[in-house]
Amino acid sequence: MTSAPDAANTADASDAANTATITHETHTLSAQGLSLGYGDHPVITGIDLDVLPGKVTGIIGANACGKSTLLKSMSRLLKPSTGSVLLDGRSVHSMPAKQLAQTLGLLPQSPIAPEGITVADLVGRGRHPHQGIMSRWSGVDDEAVAFALDTTGTAALADRSVDELSGGQRQRVWIAMALAQQTDILLLDEPTTYLDVAHQVEVLDLLTDLNKNSGITIAMVLHDLNLAARYCDQIVMIADGGVEAMGVPSEIFTEERVEKVFGLKSQIIPDPVSGTPLVLPIGRHRVLSA
Ligand SMILES: Nc1ncnc2c1ncn2[C@@H]1O[C@H](COP(=O)(O)OP(=O)(O)O)[C@@H](O)[C@H]1O
Ligand SMILES: [Mg+2]
Repeated sequence: MTSAPDAANTADASDAANTATITHETHTLSAQGLSLGYGDHPVITGIDLDVLPGKVTGIIGANACGKSTLLKSMSRLLKPSTGSVLLDGRSVHSMPAKQLAQTLGLLPQSPIAPEGITVADLVGRGRHPHQGIMSRWSGVDDEAVAFALDTTGTAALADRSVDELSGGQRQRVWIAMALAQQTDILLLDEPTTYLDVAHQVEVLDLLTDLNKNSGITIAMVLHDLNLAARYCDQIVMIADGGVEAMGVPSEIFTEERVEKVFGLKSQIIPDPVSGTPLVLPIGRHRVLSA
């Protein structure tokens, strides 16, 4: 991949990042009877779900249904009211933060960068879980940061202040930080937010490269149903505090479910590019009469 910051339009498949240099281990990650909420306000009620080891899972659902809440809890940031999140059979909420952060990374929905921090320094923070009291910054950390900057096409931005980047550039820098952490599992909350369509596809291609070449397990919240259908091995559809459906995209996307989960009438046809479901929304205007 080129290091130019906005080169997605000229990138082609041969520019695919060399993501084969790291081999990730697979782990089991599951929610069991998981209930989550804030104060007296329940958001998720008693859900069971499995993140498929070594695969890409897409989490979809309407605004405010609890997708971010779920990812926060899976990465130990929010304690369950009941139930548990198990990583290789162990509750993540009983694991030390640093130990968990060596295996599982989260890119939150709206991360906040320290004021004035440079891109290189922010991406370098992804290395924190790997540094102990005794072990200082090393060549391995330099390599991880260079790899992350390179694969996300943000190397040319390394010395820039994060504050002065465009939304799309900043989003790719956050993805770089998550990659620098080099965890076996990566949870991403709307990683394609702020990105134009070419960069959305570029990021999803990159994550797919990482998954296929190095075996990283990915679970991500996506809003674009059609990209979710293309890029995810498994879809988890959230509605009414629970899992409405979970499985392969070709089985999960039905017109009935889209109407139930999003309150949207649609027509679903095979995507002529990928063969996966293509959800075409039906609004009140601009519809051919039958
Ligand atoms: N920190 C918080 N304190 C109180 N309520 C919250 C907090 N974060 C989210 N919520 C509420 O929890 C619900 C689910 O939010 P969220 O998980 O962010 O939804 P989604 O990511 O699916 O859009 C919403 O009703 C939201 O207002
Ligand atoms: Mg959210």
